[in-house]
Amino acid sequence: MEEIIKKIKTEVETFVIENANHVEEFRLKFISKKGLVTELFEQLKHLTKEEKQKVGKILNELKQFAEAKFTEAQTNVAASHKKNSQAIDFTLPPVPDKTGNLHPLTLTRNRIIEIFERLGFSVADGPEIEDDWHNFSALNFPPNHPAREMQDTFFIEKNPEILLRTHTSNVQVRLMNQQKPPIRAIMPGRVYRNEAISARAHCFFHQVEGLYVDKNVGFADLKQTLYHFAKEMYGHDTKIRFRPSYFPFTEPSAEIDISCLICKGKGCNVCKHTGWVEIAGSGMVHPNVLRNCGIDPEEYTGFAFGMGIERVTMLRYQVNDLRLYSENDIRFLKQFKTVVS
Ligand code: PHE
Repeated sequence: MEEIIKKIKTEVETFVIENANHVEEFRLKFISKKGLVTELFEQLKHLTKEEKQKVGKILNELKQFAEAKFTEAQTNVAASHKKNSQAIDFTLPPVPDKTGNLHPLTLTRNRIIEIFERLGFSVADGPEIEDDWHNFSALNFPPNHPAREMQDTFFIEKNPEILLRTHTSNVQVRLMNQQKPPIRAIMPGRVYRNEAISARAHCFFHQVEGLYVDKNVGFADLKQTLYHFAKEMYGHDTKIRFRPSYFPFTEPSAEIDISCLICKGKGCNVCKHTGWVEIAGSGMVHPNVLRNCGIDPEEYTGFAFGMGIERVTMLRYQVNDLRLYSENDIRFLKQFKTVVS
């Protein structure tokens, strides 16, 4: 019996424990209920009283020895596991960031929609390839009128009646043809103009136009709506002003400026040292336009406005080169991830 105990002691001593699996193997082999050491205790009952005392003593020592080795190994393995999981290898490449994000123009468009939806405006959509009537003639641009030059566009040689829309006002015409007033809608979308590409101009950009036609809609409604918009969009201390302007489809017409967000009206490069930045065109829908769309201008009046999404986004995020929006450079686009729309 003493021989066996000696042999098992050597086994306990030489058992190599390097990881959690080894710890468990050790436990099962020696000190679990069916382990070798435990089994030896079973065999004590076959011995005489004197032998029992003697062998019991060395067996107890073996048991303590094995248990001590087990506890120590358990602590060591746990500590080295913790150390490994905390160690940071700075030479490894970063974990790839796979979450996508919305384009800054989409973020701005969504925010504009949010503001007008709360005022009861719905969202309308229309074609980008349009005919002359919906883009120009119905909107009171007479053929060959110089106002068409303000919005030079791309015509199709084969059929000069077809063009790429220069503004989303074509959707206003379509809405008024389809629906009876009251009409209260905004129209976000892509538009095209024949312009040389630079930091400030592009051959396509995005607009949101708005239209409200009902009985007794007046200029005060237009003003109040855009006041509300400017404050929601740019902050409550933003100042707003209306400047007389000209559009064939509105009368009277006004250009809308807000106090420069960058210099707070003191004058800087962004506002060309005027303290004001233009954000939208607007006006009361011209009676000819209402008539062209089958609405009686004696019964109904309306206001309309239009703004460029790129321009709004520029002011919002201080991005001052239009080309960045369509170059698809991930380094630019991913910066808008954390911005809440
Ligand atoms: N359609 C005009 C433009 O693109 C903007 C506008 C819309 C102006 C509605 C007045 C009223 O320039």
